[in-house]
Amino acid sequence: MSRLSVNVDHVATVRQARRASEPDPVAAALMAEVAGADGITVHLREDRRHIQDRDLSVMRKAAKTRLNLEMAATKEMFGIALEVKPDMVTLVPEKRQELTTEGGLDVKANFDYLKKFVEGLRDANIPVNLFIDPTLDAVKLSHKIGSDGVELHTGTYADAKDGRARDSELKRVAEAAALSHRLGLKTHAGHGLDYRNIKAVASIKEIDEFAIGFSIIARSIYTGINEAVREMKRLIIEGRAG
Ligand code: PXP
Repeated sequence: MSRLSVNVDHVATVRQARRASEPDPVAAALMAEVAGADGITVHLREDRRHIQDRDLSVMRKAAKTRLNLEMAATKEMFGIALEVKPDMVTLVPEKRQELTTEGGLDVKANFDYLKKFVEGLRDANIPVNLFIDPTLDAVKLSHKIGSDGVELHTGTYADAKDGRARDSELKRVAEAAALSHRLGLKTHAGHGLDYRNIKAVASIKEIDEFAIGFSIIARSIYTGINEAVREMKRLIIEGRAG
């Protein structure tokens, strides 16, 4: 079964454009759950450009599915994770100037630091996934670091300009997912997935969960969240069935 975790950051992006109180990402998350989302993802960024601390703590109390907190591996975020106790944490690299997360973690260069960081979260009973580029080396290193799982970055697949590039990137994702699964890691995928490109990735049976935000929130402007989540879930199930 491939699960769908709906990332509601962009509901907060709209709210922050006016520093208003609506639209509320917590309300959106609850509606997404009613529509069939298996989990909710939020990224509390260092610059708080979308999700705010209040959103996270209210979300923790209100969400009925699994709450996945995406965050940078910083001391501040470590403290917040221990306080909020999400159902899982996904560690992501974070740059101030980027529009969105641009690449996977450099697990090689930051091996020792990430190992300690992951240990600290796991000691607090918080499972940790590492957001990595879909390479065999990054999967192996994540396993050595002791993470519970990985989230494979599908951004290059999503941005591929032609069929050939897309196929070759999909193959990379599939190979990384197969290795991850073989090593006993939870295997998630996300970034840039939309209504056109999801079915091919969803056909990779080793992927347990997809984290999808922008395309769902963008579509919900036209159709409402209920319809937008239902349609994505339907495509995931269809892709999985082949
Ligand atoms: N996974 C990770 C680690 C991310 O950083 C993001 C973007 O916040 C997503 C998934 C969702 O990506 P998108 O909004 O492109 O669906």
